[in-house]
Amino acid sequence: MNYILLGPPGAGKGTQAKKIVERFSVVHLSTGEMFREAKRSERIISELLTSGQLVPDALVIDMVKKYFVKDYMKKGFLLDGFPRTVRQAEKLNVILKSESIKIDAVFFIDICFEEAIKRIAGRRVCSCGASYHITALPPKEVGKCDVCGGRLVQRNDDREDTVRDRLSVYEKQTKPLVEYYSKAGLLIDIDGLKDESNVFEQISRKIKI
Ligand code: AP5
Repeated sequence: MNYILLGPPGAGKGTQAKKIVERFSVVHLSTGEMFREAKRSERIISELLTSGQLVPDALVIDMVKKYFVKDYMKKGFLLDGFPRTVRQAEKLNVILKSESIKIDAVFFIDICFEEAIKRIAGRRVCSCGASYHITALPPKEVGKCDVCGGRLVQRNDDREDTVRDRLSVYEKQTKPLVEYYSKAGLLIDIDGLKDESNVFEQISRKIKI
């Protein structure tokens, strides 16, 4: 099973990816997580992420394509945050074709921008990868990670002005993928405004193993 999670910032892609990986044991590829790791050493990536802009397509594709030749990808994967432009989707097609791999479906988790802003403003993350929301998914102890006890912080790109920029980048550069994958007969609409378990239910019903 090979799937893509598509949706605006804050739609719940990361949240659902964790649940899908746990239930279906697929490989999770999150380009956002990769770039957050890389940004500690790469100033240019750091600046792009902090300002809410996309990393250039060529750099993204270079980074992602090496994963598809690896054996462990053959047991199934979930792409989260990639592709994010039509150009990335076209390049992905070429890579997949050369490895004889097919995408089964693209889950489009949709929410309105007001909800995205509300969710992102309340998100708190830990360096261990755990993610919370101050009201929807609070940690047991304020500011402290349930998993490792680490300090919870706000992501650098989660400040309100940056979030608005990310949403406008999404609208211009990523939203066209909805039509792209719809035309390819791969798009499955998911109502992202429902609670986390309902969203997971909508997705898992459509996953074929
Ligand atoms: P990335 O990390 O991919 O960020 P994003 O797409 O903006 O998505 P988010 O991580 O903000 O949100 P999410 O949908 O995962 O929501 P989450 O589950 O956390 O990318 C970051 C940056 O990297 C980009 O801006 C770009 O610069 C760069 N980048 C990455 N990929 C790239 C690419 N392919 N090309 C170019 N550049 C790239 O949920 C959000 C909050 O809501 C959480 O607090 C959560 O607890 C809560 N929540 C989740 N679901 C629900 C629910 N159903 N109800 C209530 N609350 C919920």
